[in-house]
Amino acid sequence: MLRLCGYNPLPMQNLSVSQVQPIRWQDNRLFLLDQRLLPAQEVELDFSDAPGVAGAIRDMVVRGAPAIGITAAYGVVLSAIQHATRQPGAWLEAVQKDIGILLESRPTAINLHWALARMSRLVQAVDRKNPVPELLREAITIHDEDRAANLRMAVYGAALLPSKATVLTHCNTGALATGGYGTALGVIRRAHAEGRLEHVYASETRPWLQGARLTAWELAKERIPVSLLVEGAAASLMQSGRIDWVIVGADRIVANGDVANKIGTYSLAVAARHHGVKFMVVAPTSTFDMNLARGGDIPIEHRPVEEITRIIQQNYQHVTGWNPVFDVTPAELIDAIVTERGVVEYPAEGGVRQLLSGSSSAAL
Ligand code: MRU
Repeated sequence: MLRLCGYNPLPMQNLSVSQVQPIRWQDNRLFLLDQRLLPAQEVELDFSDAPGVAGAIRDMVVRGAPAIGITAAYGVVLSAIQHATRQPGAWLEAVQKDIGILLESRPTAINLHWALARMSRLVQAVDRKNPVPELLREAITIHDEDRAANLRMAVYGAALLPSKATVLTHCNTGALATGGYGTALGVIRRAHAEGRLEHVYASETRPWLQGARLTAWELAKERIPVSLLVEGAAASLMQSGRIDWVIVGADRIVANGDVANKIGTYSLAVAARHHGVKFMVVAPTSTFDMNLARGGDIPIEHRPVEEITRIIQQNYQHVTGWNPVFDVTPAELIDAIVTERGVVEYPAEGGVRQLLSGSSSAAL
């Protein structure tokens, strides 16, 4: 069934954007909080060219689907600054090449393609003599729109939770992964602000430990009660009857409502259905890919096996690994997809087309 929440049914006050700032533009440079070092060290790296930004996305300095889209948009601005200054008449080709490099940085999160398609359209249309101001305005708009979408989704998602809710989340979907408040973690922040959240369980999220290093860090900073668990403990936690909802983000949602997200999400959805626990996906509409019919068509990133094997490499050099970093959760295991335009309940029954089509947007 597809049900669209009417827009603006709940007050938006008391929503303050998190103090965590993973992406910052200043003096024609891009500053990224190095998420690989958190929570031990808070170090910003600065970038002045697009290939450097592509490397930062690939190497996980910045991660999370909306955040890498925003970062790539600023990467296009850096490219324009670099090439329009040096080759005022012939910068277009160089910027297009840089857009290609940025596109290649990570394959699964569609937000990267979405943001670069938006910047690319503007690159074609912009003032050839002075492209930077318009491109910078667009990147800032992409950033601001994502933050605004987060705040709307937080209201919609929190409204689905019971009072004194206990939830389980996976990976990091907070301010670090977005324009500033979070998708799944935004819903959790909002529920806490409304006094309706009892407790958060966060899975540590191997092998990069986004849950342990990043989600726990963000929640602890705001004194939101959180317990970490290893992924293997999640089914057992659900069996105990303590969890009301599993709440996760997404890297790509396709036309039939299937969702690609951090590896381990599918296992959580299977366990949730088995134990009668509700399953919520929270993602802005920039995460939807209506060109793909089903989840099996989504390109799944595999990262170097050393990310898994290095802890034992000195003992067992012949051991290899299998390291897909996303999986696909079928729509039939999802109870609600929350977007900034409304909520799709039971996406397997109605798909997501109606939500994104012009006809339904009037109702939002
Ligand atoms: O490999 P990562 O850390 O980029 O993976 C991030 C996730 O899977 C998130 O759940 C997803 O991008 C949504 S973030 C709002």
